[in-house]
Amino acid sequence: MTVISEKSPKDCASKKASKKLYLYLTTLLLSLLSVIFIIWLILHPSKPHFSLREADINQLNLSLRPSLLNSSIQITLQSHNPNTKLGIYYDEFLLYASYKGQKITPETSLPPFYQDRHETNLLSASLVGIQLPVSPSFAYEAQRDQGAGRLALSIKGMGQLRWKVGTLVSGRYRFIVNCVAIMPLGPTIPSPPLSSRQTSQCSTSM
Ligand SMILES: *[C@@H]1O[C@H](CO)[C@@H](O)[C@H](O)[C@H]1NC(C)=O
Ligand SMILES: *[C@@H]1O[C@H](CO)[C@@H](O)[C@H](O)[C@H]1NC(C)=O
Repeated sequence: MTVISEKSPKDCASKKASKKLYLYLTTLLLSLLSVIFIIWLILHPSKPHFSLREADINQLNLSLRPSLLNSSIQITLQSHNPNTKLGIYYDEFLLYASYKGQKITPETSLPPFYQDRHETNLLSASLVGIQLPVSPSFAYEAQRDQGAGRLALSIKGMGQLRWKVGTLVSGRYRFIVNCVAIMPLGPTIPSPPLSSRQTSQCSTSM
């Protein structure tokens, strides 16, 4: 008696079919997992928290006709990752100062960095503008603030971040940060240096 070990064409076909099924199931499982991952990412991450620790106006000199502004503003921003499971890659982070809705410094870019779970970082930036064109209303607004005895300076940030969980890294998400520093003004027309050393919370949107 001989044992025939040759596979019949039928066997081959069923093997092919099961291989196809296996591939199909694997693909299905992988897409399901990535969908779950994406849903979890959308639902779960908490936005990073920012607060403005310090803002110093070292220079704010305006020349008239045309209105050109020289400014030098030093800021310290605190950044906190409130997530227990997600690290954050900050790929891009631009900061600038704005006064009454007007940009008064160019954008300054912070170097990219990684922020671990629950980590807090202090970020310093020097915002310097030279001969930046501003609206002619700038001098008038500054004088009005002078009368009020305080000046509200906005520090705005925008960038892109990626979430990291284990070894998985998400796609890029845009974020926007908005901070306000209230500077007390002396009796003379904006005479730097002006400082705000009161920590104020910033709003973050994604
Ligand atoms: C800016 O103005 C201040 C007076 O407010 C003056 O002392 C200083 O020299 C000026 N700086 C520049 C670079 O013009
Ligand atoms: C701003 O800076 C430029 C270059 O340093 C200088 O020529 C100009 O006089 C400055 N303007 C004011 C108002 O200080």
